[in-house]
Amino acid sequence: MKQSKRIGILTAGGDSPGLNAAIRGVGKAAHDAGMEIIGFRDGFRGLAQNQTIKLDKKALAGILTVGGTLLGTGRDKPHRMEVNGRMRDMRDVIARTYESNKLDALVCLGGGGTHKNALRLMEKGLNIITLPKTIDNDIALTDTTIGFDTAMSIATMAIDRLHSTAHSHHRIIIAEIMGHRAGWLALGSGIAGGADVILIPEISYDVRNVAAAIRKRKKLGTNFSIVAVAEGALPIKEAAQFTAAARRKKEATTKTDKLKAKNELVHLRELHDGSTWRLAKQLEELTHLEARVTILGYVQRGGTPSATDRLLATRLGTAAVDFILKGNFGMMVAARGEDVKAVPVIDVAGRLKSVPADHSWISSARHVGTCFGD
Ligand code: F6P
Repeated sequence: MKQSKRIGILTAGGDSPGLNAAIRGVGKAAHDAGMEIIGFRDGFRGLAQNQTIKLDKKALAGILTVGGTLLGTGRDKPHRMEVNGRMRDMRDVIARTYESNKLDALVCLGGGGTHKNALRLMEKGLNIITLPKTIDNDIALTDTTIGFDTAMSIATMAIDRLHSTAHSHHRIIIAEIMGHRAGWLALGSGIAGGADVILIPEISYDVRNVAAAIRKRKKLGTNFSIVAVAEGALPIKEAAQFTAAARRKKEATTKTDKLKAKNELVHLRELHDGSTWRLAKQLEELTHLEARVTILGYVQRGGTPSATDRLLATRLGTAAVDFILKGNFGMMVAARGEDVKAVPVIDVAGRLKSVPADHSWISSARHVGTCFGD
């Protein structure tokens, strides 16, 4: 007689508020369906090293509101994992852990990198279900991601607070907001917080346009401004250099050319480091106002999830168990309106959900006079 189903769960990539709520959703629904569930520690590393956590009723109690992830997380990749100082392909080892734990399915909670890694394990025959989580909200084919709403509220609250100090000192305050590849968080919190300028990776900017917007405010009697800048926002010239290097990498036919283009991209990323401080200096020179930088950093990822994220995490987590019961594997549980939708992981992996140039948030922001530096 077939034993009851046994499933595994892990969280990978950067943490985000709502992960514990999602683990609880999967875990409680699994118990309800008579399944056993075990957690793997620290992302794919725990799977490679068979580091497990028992997820019984007691372990799942009292975690709905708790930030972070009780499982721990990490950015290790199954196909290139550092083990004893050497990079190793751990996919077969992971497949053996899956077998030895007699798993029927593995639930992976993660962002862009996790979806690529999940696909790599699907290719080894693992039954995988993924849940989209990242504060960046940049996962394709889902309306939203676990953690985004909380991070957007935190960044908005920070912008609110920066307003009063910028106003009092007649300063420009630049709030650097997470998001290297997509600008959802800077855009959403910038609009909600009433930032005067919003700079995002999808719209390259000219610092002279930003300065002109600030000078215009000054001329009209408002001698302070708030700039919400995403980590990955780029001035026009740098953006062109990145695009050209990325194109060279894509088109390279020899290993040497590929490596050269890759190194070029690494070099450009290094040059980009500290760009928010450079922006502050440039704006001081161009506006004759004092400028200050506030890097919001990891505060955006920590702490209690919002009600919206708890609800989303519970909806997606419990739906993951429905997928498993139906044998609907290789799917991401996507949020679509009030429903969930099964989206093949293969369609999500390697795709980025950027802010479209014609997105309604951008046009609304422009209507209320926000400058994008373009
Ligand atoms: O992917 C989420 C994210 O929070 C990004 O917004 C941020 O750029 C990055 O992670 C930071 O990564 P790490 O946790 O590795 O420093």
